[in-house]
Amino acid sequence: MSTATERTLVLVKPDALRRGLLGEILGRFERKGLTIDALVVRTMDAELADQHYAEHVDKAFYPPLKEFMTSGPLAALVLSGDEVIAVVRALVGATDGRKAAAGTIRGDLSLSNRENLVHASDSPDSAKRELALWFPEL
Ligand code: PPS
Repeated sequence: MSTATERTLVLVKPDALRRGLLGEILGRFERKGLTIDALVVRTMDAELADQHYAEHVDKAFYPPLKEFMTSGPLAALVLSGDEVIAVVRALVGATDGRKAAAGTIRGDLSLSNRENLVHASDSPDSAKRELALWFPEL
């Protein structure tokens, strides 16, 4: 089976920065062998939140998600590597930190489905759309 170098968009969420976990989380991606192509720390504004989470804006959980994601600085990064979209999703673990497997970022470090430390693109189409939103210059 062939492999393909891809890019994905990762957000290390405001809870991670508040808890001093940015280095721990970046280290996991680095130790896996992935490459950080771009990294910026910024606070997401309401407009970018609505664009980024376009598929969720009508869901009941969106208002608290938006409030949380705009509550302070996050780190946005572009990661590249072989099959990086699936590899990063596996490293991050299931949405709810209470149910995520031990050994994953959320399984080891989160007890929440909102304050779950990391967002990662879930498909090639999502990665393309999200990378264009966050890093239009790339
Ligand atoms: S879905 O409907 O299955 O696609 O949703 P899911 O992938 O489980 O979650 C999408 C994002 O919504 C966040 N989420 C929540 N935020 C706040 N409150 C509640 N209850 C909640 N449930 C889910 C979840 O953390 C996902 O964020 P991202 O940034 O995409 O990982």
